Amino acid sequence: MQPQEFEREYDSCREMIEEQLRLYFTEDGVLNQAMRYSLLAGGKRIRPIIVLQFCKAAGGDMTAALPAACAVEMLHTYSLIHDDLPCMDNDSLRRGKPTNHIVYGECLATLAGDALQAEAFGTLLKSELSAAAVVKMGRILTQAAGASGICQGQALDMLGEEKKLSLDELTAIHHHKTSALLIAAAQLGVAAAGGSDSQLRAAEDYAHHLGLAFQVQDDILDFAGTTEVLGKPAGSDKTNHKTTFLTFMNLHDARHIVGDQTHYAIAALHNNFVNTTFLEALAINLEERKC
Ligand code: IPE
Ligand code: IPE
Ligand code: MG
Ligand code: MG
Ligand code: MG
Repeated sequence: MQPQEFEREYDSCREMIEEQLRLYFTEDGVLNQAMRYSLLAGGKRIRPIIVLQFCKAAGGDMTAALPAACAVEMLHTYSLIHDDLPCMDNDSLRRGKPTNHIVYGECLATLAGDALQAEAFGTLLKSELSAAAVVKMGRILTQAAGASGICQGQALDMLGEEKKLSLDELTAIHHHKTSALLIAAAQLGVAAAGGSDSQLRAAEDYAHHLGLAFQVQDDILDFAGTTEVLGKPAGSDKTNHKTTFLTFMNLHDARHIVGDQTHYAIAALHNNFVNTTFLEALAINLEERKC
């Protein structure tokens, strides 16, 4: 896919998502304000775009997957608000703006995160697909969010600050805290299209590798990027004594892993979908991302 065509498609999906997200939590009150502050702060919107594009690749209409796409972005935004809290990474910049707890205080930031997580499931439940499809999607999102997904990954990440981790242990943390939600995003798209079990497995495979590439690149950018370009504090991992891929290898080798995982992600798509050119281009684009 030509870069211009990729950008057009990316922007058009992002606009669909932004337009929909702006409709949520519009009532008065500081909790709603805090939720909208982080939800509408920008962000690359990669996860909801993956939901829409897997729906399309599995032969569905992207609008059928829009509630699931918004649900995934709400869940992701909650995870970022909590990740930045003083008891976690203690960061004060996110998406180029002061973090939620800097603006609203720790208590409201915690609650805004809690509410976004609950509303993510509520948004999924409001989807107009069949009850069977919605139940399937609820299971997929739960797997990514809870004790087998982000929360597990974040717990292991935090406990790991006091320990020397092996590369296998770190890879497992990256899988839980980052790949899990990308897997859910890809599978939700397939499920919204009524896709097959083999498409669900291929979606998992793609997003597992994409997620590993994505988090290793995140580690690289934390180490070698700038706060200005990232819109979040560079050097946070070092300050927090995190084990990252750069603990085990130099930048060159870490970039090599990002390349290999990107390659595996693309390979997982072959023979399983109608048209995967966008998803292939997305993986390559993320490999080269600077923020
Ligand atoms: C940041 O995710 C958290 C990680 C899992 C590394 P993104 O890099 O997708 O953040 P936004 O949504 O664009 O702000
Ligand atoms: C956290 O990873 C991923 C989440 C589940 C939020 P990081 O702590 O590395 O994410 P950033 O770098 O702050 O975005
Ligand atoms: Mg963290
Ligand atoms: Mg962090
Ligand atoms: Mg990071």
